[in-house]
Amino acid sequence: MARMTRWNEVQKAELHLHLEGSVTPETMRELAPDVSAEEIAARYAFTDFAGFLRCFIWVVEHLHTPDDYALITRRLLERLRLENVTYAEITLAAGVVLWKKQEFAPIYDAVKRAAAESAIAVFWNLDATRQFGAEHAMRVAELAADRAGDGVISYGIGGDEERGPAEWFFAVYEFARAHGLRLTAHAGETVGPHSVWGALRLGAERIGHGIRSAEDAQLLRHLRDHNIPLEICISSNVATGAVRSLADHPVRRIYDAGVPIILNTDDPGVFRCTLNGEYELAARQFGFSDTELRGIAENGFRYAFGR
Ligand code: ADE
Ligand code: ZN
Repeated sequence: MARMTRWNEVQKAELHLHLEGSVTPETMRELAPDVSAEEIAARYAFTDFAGFLRCFIWVVEHLHTPDDYALITRRLLERLRLENVTYAEITLAAGVVLWKKQEFAPIYDAVKRAAAESAIAVFWNLDATRQFGAEHAMRVAELAADRAGDGVISYGIGGDEERGPAEWFFAVYEFARAHGLRLTAHAGETVGPHSVWGALRLGAERIGHGIRSAEDAQLLRHLRDHNIPLEICISSNVATGAVRSLADHPVRRIYDAGVPIILNTDDPGVFRCTLNGEYELAARQFGFSDTELRGIAENGFRYAFGR
């Protein structure tokens, strides 16, 4: 029998990865020495999507200075290096920086500088928080537009899709596109196929998660025919309860329908997952062959915005 691929030997790209969600409990201790290990463990022990979003916000609230952001960038890139990730598009929750009333420019300069020290090719996706509304999303798009070509490659929306329908953001996406930004959006993670259709109407070129597309055969055909990839994050979907169980994850059905997919970790520090682990999980749980997974790893570069 052929030797199984060791995923560490394969160069990979991460296209759906949140900087703030990369903060492990150990790094939290470094950032907030006054917070007990027990409290951190309790905050990280959510059981549903709302609990996850609370945890994410709690982590971000503990990022007080540009140096804090630089530290978590370095920690993340050190781990990606060990996983043989050579290209990363990292999402920075610029919307939450504004919500905290922090100045964005020094934070962006700090993460950009930290990334420049790494051998990994890094581009930034600035994302707005859907439930904060369209005006907020426009402020984030303006920050992204100011830095288009200066490390920021794309614009996206995340957060709670139930409380921020795509229709709110048409003008924002139009603005972002006009300023040279590539477009992505979280959709079809916790809300059904209509949310993915909405993201497509916004002009999203890649869909974050999009797993609920599996419920709509016409949508699957559309994604396939228009070559729109889904950024699949299996462990994330299990941890947030976006799928009922690992066995229920539709990644195999989506792939078999011909939709391009990429494997990603989403929030690896919070979900305690790794990119190599996602490949192993896809093989073990869903029977993906090494050849299929190598093709999926290539998709990480094919659908990258920065290439
Ligand atoms: N922000 C960080 N991770 C997210 C996710 N999985 N869904 C929506 N917003 C997020
Ligand atoms: Zn995400």
